[in-house]
Amino acid sequence: MYRIMYMSTATRNILDDELEEILEKARINNHEKELTGLLIVKGRTFLQCLEGEKHNVLEVYNKILKDDRHENIIDLVDENDATRLFPNWDMGYKNLKSLNDIKSEKIREILSVDQLDIKKDEIAEIIEDFVSFN
Ligand SMILES: Cc1cc2nc3c(=O)[nH]c(=O)nc-3n(C[C@H](O)[C@H](O)[C@H](O)COP(=O)(O)O)c2cc1C
Repeated sequence: MYRIMYMSTATRNILDDELEEILEKARINNHEKELTGLLIVKGRTFLQCLEGEKHNVLEVYNKILKDDRHENIIDLVDENDATRLFPNWDMGYKNLKSLNDIKSEKIREILSVDQLDIKKDEIAEIIEDFVSFN
């Protein structure tokens, strides 16, 4: 099992409809390739985790890298693991507009990245939230 996680910035304001389109496509493709993961969106910032067989993850990730709907892609994680963090999600989705107060600390260490207009603690909490609801 192989996992990548990255952050990126939408090239312009992404409308809800467009996000739905991305997610719909992602879920179909990911399901076919037995990929799981999640996509978190806050404003124009994306945080995505993709996991599965390495060649499948890289195949889809290469498409994602070329997608002109986002830019400034920062790789956060690139690792092998025995188990999936998100086994039940073709592509989980959370828009941080509706952030609740959740406590957690997992994956905090991943988020030693600067220049986000998103609080690191919030991301860690959301990811934990997804994991715990699997
Ligand atoms: C932020 C973001 C996340 C995406 N995530 C996925 C994904 O998880 N799986 C996927 O197949 N496509 C994803 N896409 C879309 C791909 O970039 C690409 O448009 C799509 O895979 C093309 O699919 P097709 O080759 O079947 O037409 C994402 C795009 C963006 C902008």
